[in-house]
Amino acid sequence: MPLLYPDIDKHIELIIKHKIPIVFTSAGNPKTWTPKLKEHGITVVHVVSSSKFAVKCQETGVDAVVAEGFEAGGHNGREETTTLCLIPSVRKNIDIPLIAAGGISDGKSMLATMILGAEGVQIGSRFVCTNEASSHLSFKKQIIEAKEGDTELVLKKLTPVRLLKNDFYHQVKNAENEGANFDKLQAILGKARAKKGMFEGDIQDGELEIGQISALINEILPAEQVVHSIWEEFCNYIANIQSLIK
Ligand SMILES: Cc1cc2nc3c(=O)[nH]c(=O)nc-3n(C[C@H](O)[C@H](O)[C@H](O)COP(=O)(O)O)c2cc1C
Repeated sequence: MPLLYPDIDKHIELIIKHKIPIVFTSAGNPKTWTPKLKEHGITVVHVVSSSKFAVKCQETGVDAVVAEGFEAGGHNGREETTTLCLIPSVRKNIDIPLIAAGGISDGKSMLATMILGAEGVQIGSRFVCTNEASSHLSFKKQIIEAKEGDTELVLKKLTPVRLLKNDFYHQVKNAENEGANFDKLQAILGKARAKKGMFEGDIQDGELEIGQISALINEILPAEQVVHSIWEEFCNYIANIQSLIK
């Protein structure tokens, strides 16, 4: 749950009221809400994109950290630290459980991040392209078409977000190249741009949040099949590695 939601206090009250056992928070300071959530026995996991914030999370008492690399879809950090560099660095700096995110879509990428020091993974983009995802079919089809280099992290002056390149992206990019300030970018973004793109299927004027891994996603599958194949590949790769050292 992004902590920058305008009515975040109401969301927090709702979570407490309904005794939600575990909450993933992001896009904000973990110090603001973690103590209150913990007071009610809720497990808190906070998403970060740097070691500095991972340490802050640990000091605040969060139960686990998601470290999200530059490759990831959606909102992200400004520093552009890739998953390959971020995970070992965060691992070195914190002792609490670490979940890797950004660019993971199959068993081998899951295994790679676990070798780098993660105990688990968080996957976003791959599941946007499943039958069950509430994302619009036109958006899912755009993801299948996406090639390497078709996404970019933009709106760093506002809230950095990785988008699929479309008319809206070019509008943002042109404005950024001309030195647009916060207010100008806010005006271009307008309201409900993400809903327009990802849920209503306006693939040119809407905001299409997706990660670099979209270049490797080439079919819409049932979520169960995605999970199953990730696990199967993960196990096969471990077996392969073991056979190499025998
Ligand atoms: C369409 C989309 C929407 C997302 N929305 C959120 C969000 O609301 N809150 C959040 O913490 N992360 C959000 N994420 C990030 C994911 O939770 C996850 O960390 C990220 O997708 C992992 O990288 P990947 O896209 O390479 O799998 C979103 C990602 C995508 C692709």
